[in-house]
Amino acid sequence: MKPEALGSNVAQAKAPRGRFIALEGGEGAGKSTQAGLLAEALRARGLDVVLTREPGGTPGAEAVRALLLNTDGEGWGARAEALLFAAARADHVERLIRPALAAGHWVICDRFVDSSRAYQGGGGGLSDDDIIALHRIGSEGILPDVTVLIEVSPPVAEARLARRDVDGADRIGGRERAYHARVASAFARFAEDEPSRFARISGDGTPLLIHAQILAALGHMLPDFSPVSGA
Ligand code: TMP
Repeated sequence: MKPEALGSNVAQAKAPRGRFIALEGGEGAGKSTQAGLLAEALRARGLDVVLTREPGGTPGAEAVRALLLNTDGEGWGARAEALLFAAARADHVERLIRPALAAGHWVICDRFVDSSRAYQGGGGGLSDDDIIALHRIGSEGILPDVTVLIEVSPPVAEARLARRDVDGADRIGGRERAYHARVASAFARFAEDEPSRFARISGDGTPLLIHAQILAALGHMLPDFSPVSGA
């Protein structure tokens, strides 16, 4: 089931004044760098921006993040893991995302529900319908206005991860190559199935080149947009 098939895009149903943009991708895609650059660019256009991430973004959700990603202990089964991500998201949506949108802010979120669909669904083997059902229960099915999917080729991702994870990967980032290949193909499938919800960007270039591509993809939503020159 596609999330939009639920007809539960509460962000649109309640017509918030702010806009909601999520960045998605596999490990080493450069999302966090891009989320920061995008926040700066939107602030420079005079917008009020809330930059946040998942799992996390509120004290409760950050506590759940530690439970999910710390490598101590035996970890979680696929179902418990999916429930914990949905619980963290529910707190984040209720306490940060919805109030920010209602106040007219632009919310930039480093990962959202499509990460659960790709990792716990595509990677972990749970059904897409189950992940979407958890999202409907936890967060009333809210979806971003646009989801930017940054896709990197495996050698580029591996080189970035080698730099990022010098002190060891977290519990999910450290899973085997085949798991991450399933995650990447799940993301690609979602973007193919729902081209109107996704902006698909190649993440193999320099940060500034990727940033320019993201701004161009979001141009239709931005006030006073003029593409970054020379990138
Ligand atoms: P990060 O590396 O982008 O900070 O994300 C933390 C890890 O959590 C990353 O390996 C992806 C994973 N993750 C899921 O498995 N499901 C989710 O719903 C989210 C938001 C993240």
